[in-house]
Amino acid sequence: MIDNGANARVAETNGVNGHSQTNGTNGHVVPVAQKVNGEVKADGTAMDGEVLAQQHLEPLWLKMDAMVPPTPNPVAAPHIWKYQETLPYLLEAGRVVPAEAAERRVLMLVNPKMGKYPKSPYTTDSIYGGLQLVNPGETAPAHRHIAFAIRFIIDGEGFTAVEGKKIPLKRGDVIVTPTWHWHDHGNESDKPVIWLDALNLPLFRFARVHIAEGYEESRYPSTLSTPCEWSHPWEHVEASLLAQEGPHTIHHYTTKGDQPLSTTLGVQAERIEAGHITQESRDVASFLVHCYTGDGLTIVEPPNGPKKVIEWTTRDTFVIPAYSKVTHVNKGTEPAYLVLVHDKPLLKNLGLNKPDFV
Ligand SMILES: [Fe+2]
Repeated sequence: MIDNGANARVAETNGVNGHSQTNGTNGHVVPVAQKVNGEVKADGTAMDGEVLAQQHLEPLWLKMDAMVPPTPNPVAAPHIWKYQETLPYLLEAGRVVPAEAAERRVLMLVNPKMGKYPKSPYTTDSIYGGLQLVNPGETAPAHRHIAFAIRFIIDGEGFTAVEGKKIPLKRGDVIVTPTWHWHDHGNESDKPVIWLDALNLPLFRFARVHIAEGYEESRYPSTLSTPCEWSHPWEHVEASLLAQEGPHTIHHYTTKGDQPLSTTLGVQAERIEAGHITQESRDVASFLVHCYTGDGLTIVEPPNGPKKVIEWTTRDTFVIPAYSKVTHVNKGTEPAYLVLVHDKPLLKNLGLNKPDFV
């Protein structure tokens, strides 16, 4: 910008580009403004961007809309992973990737707009999702980390041991792994167990403080714990959804203290009656959505992209970017059940919600 010393920095440049000159005080090269037809240009081209870049400076006024946009501006785009298309790759990983070679045998759900590792292999801007498989007899060894994890069991039976509590896993259950709790996974059945992982890993792009630690043994000592505060069996969720009246009911998963499941990520389940079209909604949060059962479609209109119609069926997983307009349609003849991981707690706790959204 041109300040009180601008006159000394403004050079006649014959109306071409802004150039640099030595200011004569300490020998440093300073950017100079451009003078066109006798007037100093007031727009962004008035200073030499290359010279500024050499000083590790950049004009905010040229990036104003990007740096402080008028609406949320998610990178993530609407996208769906059809289970029947993804499953063969997961099963192949189960065959060719030995358990001991993979601390966690997971296929990450990388949003097409977010870029594969090491860029940002995430599912929404604030939620990481992945599909994990544990074969019969295997153990995913004990470790702990700062990241918070939610698991939705898609198929099969197994167990997760969290800080000494061994929790059975069955289809439809949600299991929570709080931050820095030892956890290992196992499968004592005769079929693979498969679940959807959802973690707050994208947050560590900004606060690069994530750490993980392996336990000295493959399993952390545990005893069966049922019911368990970290387990949310499907039958309880379904009962809650059925106990509410109306064609579209919502159950919010909470802790014993009636709080969201974590300070960053939360979970809700929705029941949509056959043939029902939900009222259009818009939430500042982003969602990782899994269809527990049903057939339908979701119309997603992100704030910065084209409207997209996502057709889903049982076991599919899809993305709703932040601040999208959303309408669900149950096209089937049975109720549809969706389970949605979201970042509402993060936004609330950090005060990132626009007041109108609260
Ligand atoms: Fe983990």
